[in-house]
Amino acid sequence: MKYKIVQKSLNSINCDVEIVFILNKDFKHKWVKHEDILKQMNFKGDSEEAIFLASEKYIYVGIESLELDELRTASAKAIKLLKKTNYKSAKIGLYINKCSKKAVIALIEGFEFGNYEFDKYKSKKEDKKSFEISISSQTYDDKEAQIDKAKIGLEFALITSEATNFAKDIVNLAPADYTPIEMAEDAKKLEKLENVTCTIYDETYLKENNMNAFLAVNRASVHPPRLIHVVYKPENAKKRVIFVGKGLTYDSGGLSLKPSDYMVSMKSDKSGGAAALAILKGAANLGLCVEIHAIIGATENMIGGNAYKPDDILVAKNGKTIEVRNTDAEGRLVLADCLCYAQEFKPDLLIDIATLTGACAVGVGEYTTGVMGYNDELQKSLSKFANMSGELVNPLKFNKYLKKLIKSNIADISNVSSSRYGGAITAGLFLDSFIEDEYKDKWLHLDIAGPAYLEKEWGYNSFGATGASVRMNLYWLNKMSREEK
Ligand code: BES
Ligand code: ZN
Ligand code: ZN
Repeated sequence: MKYKIVQKSLNSINCDVEIVFILNKDFKHKWVKHEDILKQMNFKGDSEEAIFLASEKYIYVGIESLELDELRTASAKAIKLLKKTNYKSAKIGLYINKCSKKAVIALIEGFEFGNYEFDKYKSKKEDKKSFEISISSQTYDDKEAQIDKAKIGLEFALITSEATNFAKDIVNLAPADYTPIEMAEDAKKLEKLENVTCTIYDETYLKENNMNAFLAVNRASVHPPRLIHVVYKPENAKKRVIFVGKGLTYDSGGLSLKPSDYMVSMKSDKSGGAAALAILKGAANLGLCVEIHAIIGATENMIGGNAYKPDDILVAKNGKTIEVRNTDAEGRLVLADCLCYAQEFKPDLLIDIATLTGACAVGVGEYTTGVMGYNDELQKSLSKFANMSGELVNPLKFNKYLKKLIKSNIADISNVSSSRYGGAITAGLFLDSFIEDEYKDKWLHLDIAGPAYLEKEWGYNSFGATGASVRMNLYWLNKMSREEK
């Protein structure tokens, strides 16, 4: 889609269709030209309610407030209606004056997400229409928007939404088409961005470096594992932020096999890895002054005669021994080794992203990312930028009683808890035992098992992958890039 920010009133812009958000059911606002017809059509102006008045060439969408996520959802609804037509251009006014940058970001992200489609596996593909959207500098309250800021917002949103959709494309690919090798190839392609380098390590490296927990998970897969390490290193970087992503290109559960219904959608177990790649890509495109690493453990978790087993004892990269009691708790094994590897690069901030536990989705709901760690300030910062980006996060607190549940009688630690309660936190605590004291306060664990992949669409998120955690981290990194060293 193409966008123009035009320093003209809405009326004086020539376009096929006009898009109007009706704020708080205010049908009397001067942008609302069809109060009578809308009433006849029983259009109430509720949040997320959208209608296309074809003969009038107007799209109306209800919004309850000027919260950024309301705008995102509304523009996604509008573009979905426009897509069904053969019209090529539309115009819209701005809804916040003071912060036109943020409003533009939300609007554009909504358009881009509403327009997202994954049709690789459809034999009949819909024509990809190219729309042109003109955003008028005129605002809802009749003031002039700050055009320069709006333009910066447009550039930013095009990059954040492209990065998010890049992650979605990876996650939506079928497991037969997207193995660790393909993930490594995608990572390698990021080298065409300025200041980006990528190193791919194979199983020989993993063996030589004692990454046995990671290797055990891969053992029954016909696809070899890959440790992917991408670095974006701009001059004058202010901080080094390392993302560690769970890149399970398929999780069958292994010998602790998942029931069929639970196995469906497990191609999405690579969402953490996809997010790490997407964040790095977005940050490089934004030219942020932050050094960023994306470290991904890419493998499948399969069954076979050589599969790792419940009762196996694994020795992780840092020498810790792990009793395997459930091969479906594989993500934490891969991440344990990857986190050990990541700490060797001395991060200022270490964030792991993983579809780690069904328990997290049960606990906080399927729309929300569970956030764990020891540093409340870090959690607050992330939460602030999550809120701005429209992503939902919930802190989950560690405690010493839950920690006791992952003790093992035979090894240093067990890969599952002895209780069926608190599974998201005990998984976080398992990871915690691979974080050195020096990094405890620099580490955050994001469990995206709920929001990473949808069986039914919500808001501006379409069916399938959502790119969970990409935007919140990009918003946050963008802020870090502007802070003093
Ligand atoms: N990949 C799953 C977690 C998951 C579940 C992600 C649902 C997305 C949606 C993970 O590897 C897993 O299977 N975890 C187990 C842990 C259990 C064996 C302790 C789970 O959540 O059941
Ligand atoms: Zn699993
Ligand atoms: Zn998994």
